[in-house]
Amino acid sequence: MSEVIEILDLKFQPYISSEKIDRVVGDLARRINEDYQGKNPLFLSVLNGSFIFTSDLLKKISLLCNIEFVRLKSYDGTQSTENVREVLGLNVDIKNRDIIVIEDIVDTGHTLAHFIDYLKTREPKSIKLASLIFKKEAFQKDFELDYVGFEIENKFIVGYGLDYNEYGRNLDSIYQLI
Ligand code: IMP
Ligand code: MG
Repeated sequence: MSEVIEILDLKFQPYISSEKIDRVVGDLARRINEDYQGKNPLFLSVLNGSFIFTSDLLKKISLLCNIEFVRLKSYDGTQSTENVREVLGLNVDIKNRDIIVIEDIVDTGHTLAHFIDYLKTREPKSIKLASLIFKKEAFQKDFELDYVGFEIENKFIVGYGLDYNEYGRNLDSIYQLI
């Protein structure tokens, strides 16, 4: 992964290698396996961006668990927007369940804040948040992330599920906008 790539009108450079992502995802899985010993968590994966992270993470989870997928997109191009669309696809009862939300990236935090509020109205036993990427400088909320893979600077990235205008999700490592 040594080259600059082009997606539509933009150029990106290698930023986080697939080997590094593998190691960090393994570390997160180990922590979750320890923290939830004897429990039966329900993972809620936020589509589309989290699909690769979710797949790699869940292969390393040894707990008896469930996995469901939801959609709540709030992003156009390279700018985060505050208008969060509705939650789609959550058709299971989460009352009294231990929920672990799986996100690809937390930027301003608006998307996740909205989703957490929505989940709380359905009375889960607990909610924990896992995000592969955290753009700490861009974060505008006050909730805590329980499992973070990488804290990165506030620059746009693609790959490993993350897109630029729906392209680049299939890249096996992460690239940063030049
Ligand atoms: P937030 O609501 O500002 O936290 O934005 C969260 C959503 O914006 C994520 O789920 C992504 O879909 C998208 N997003 C934020 N930063 C990036 C980025 O650097 N690359 C691609 N998508 C991003
Ligand atoms: Mg996302």
